[in-house]
Amino acid sequence: MSLQQEIAKRKTFAIISHPDAGKTTLTEKFLLFGGAIQTAGAVKSNKIKKHATSDFMEIERQRGISVATSVMSFEYKDMLVNLLDTPGHKDFAEDTYRTLTAVDSVVLVIDCVKGVEEQTERLMEVCRMRNTPVIIFINKMDRDGKNPFDLLEELEKKLNIKTQPLSWPINMGRDFKGVYNIHHKSLLKFQANQKATDEDLVSLPDLNTHDIVELVGEKDAATLREEMELIMGVYDSFDKEEYRKGNLSPVFFGSAVNNFGVKDLLDTFIEIAPSPIPRMTDTREVLPDEKKFSGFVFKIHANIDPRHRDRVAFLRVCSGTFERNTFYLHTRLEKNVRFSNPYTFMARDKNIVEDAYPGDVVGLFDTGNFKIGDTLTEGETMFYTGIPSFSPEIFKELVNNDPMKTKQLEKGIRQLTDEGVAQLFTQHGGNRKIIGCVGELQFEVIQYRLLQEYGAACSFRTLPYYKACWIQGDEQKVQDFIRFKQSNIVQDKEEHLVYLAESEWYLNTERRNNPEIKFFITSDFKHEL
Ligand code: G4P
Repeated sequence: MSLQQEIAKRKTFAIISHPDAGKTTLTEKFLLFGGAIQTAGAVKSNKIKKHATSDFMEIERQRGISVATSVMSFEYKDMLVNLLDTPGHKDFAEDTYRTLTAVDSVVLVIDCVKGVEEQTERLMEVCRMRNTPVIIFINKMDRDGKNPFDLLEELEKKLNIKTQPLSWPINMGRDFKGVYNIHHKSLLKFQANQKATDEDLVSLPDLNTHDIVELVGEKDAATLREEMELIMGVYDSFDKEEYRKGNLSPVFFGSAVNNFGVKDLLDTFIEIAPSPIPRMTDTREVLPDEKKFSGFVFKIHANIDPRHRDRVAFLRVCSGTFERNTFYLHTRLEKNVRFSNPYTFMARDKNIVEDAYPGDVVGLFDTGNFKIGDTLTEGETMFYTGIPSFSPEIFKELVNNDPMKTKQLEKGIRQLTDEGVAQLFTQHGGNRKIIGCVGELQFEVIQYRLLQEYGAACSFRTLPYYKACWIQGDEQKVQDFIRFKQSNIVQDKEEHLVYLAESEWYLNTERRNNPEIKFFITSDFKHEL
């Protein structure tokens, strides 16, 4: 098969949701359709228990297991689907943001009872920054949820996206009768406690005939006709290109646990989701079908079990063909590296790969050479961009409990933050170290690992900050600002200036008082507040 054919065959995506909306259940159904697993429950058993926040060792153990399922590849309708898993636990949200940089599209799961939840908003923000195409699946229609029109409005308002329903539910909860596929003009009937099959799909090109009445009854037929008329009046025909540009999100309704509406979603995904797309580096845009291989590391997993202390770097192939046992240029270290045992993932199995193509994710055993965002090429010096850091939510000062081990502590915290466990900031003009994380769990992980792996004992002192903003602007004004707000100014690992704000009020006040300074919410200075 030619490189072009390999690329056209691939779809690399992630399923994202607020915890409990049904991501794991939907993943499992996709894998069942793809024949990658045979039994329900196979994915579930690997899932990080969402509520076990106190026991991080247990979570790490489960994370260890979940490395095997970090990427799930399966074939469906002659396509090769790479589904990148994202951790459900809120404290690992940074992991999810980074994974989103390695996909070409996303399926977002919404619980119809709860609507748009907090984590959904943050995840969608990341998707919008990158114009990632998003398909929305409104799940749990077998429960009494919000009115579908209200849900669409909530999605548009809270997520700041344009939506277009491609399927439409007939009632919900106890009265849920099924979904009407607007695109294909067919009805999928729902029967409680019974899995939907293709035989339950009835073609209904004209809703004004009596057929629909026979299927759902007079009253629901009338409502469906009315609602369809409304929808037809509001929406133009679906524009795939607008979806691919990230401007329009098609919406499906269904029930993952009942395997209802899932096939429809997967079929549409296969039809419309983009194959591997071009990606930006600091010097130029790289097309997937360029002959020469290039790719970047978007995730590093370190096993903290002392009996299996290994690190795996996850590399997304962006162009050309990646080959086993071939030297590639590690552009940050300016040295050639090669891998004798790279592996890919078929469902739960890890397989050594000889070659991999754009869209594929390769697991590379790493002895500490990699940090998040590192680029490998066939010789060209370039760096893939677009893996910025976002503001952490919790800030603590790192306190050294054993002055004899200062060096170990410094080395340890640098390496752990290279892996992306947390962000490290250093006091501007000083040496105080401030760690920023998304969740409390990370601090426990850091403390444990520093002691176990580097022999360095530490503790943390809570700091009153709520947000980090990267700042840039007129040199003199920035210098004045630094002098004025000295105790709030730190540097990230790239020595970029960062302002730590105690509250939204402080942040807004400083922005008002310093119009010549730009405040950015990402470390790449691309997204201004
Ligand atoms: P997550 O990965 O997004 O966190 O969600 P997950 O799939 O684990 O689903 C969360 C809960 O919602 C699960 O129940 C799951 O069975 C349920 N669920 C998923 N899809 C549907 C649906 O279409 N309808 C209904 N009614 N429930 C759904 P649980 O009690 O937490 O787990 P379990 O004991 O059922 O495994």
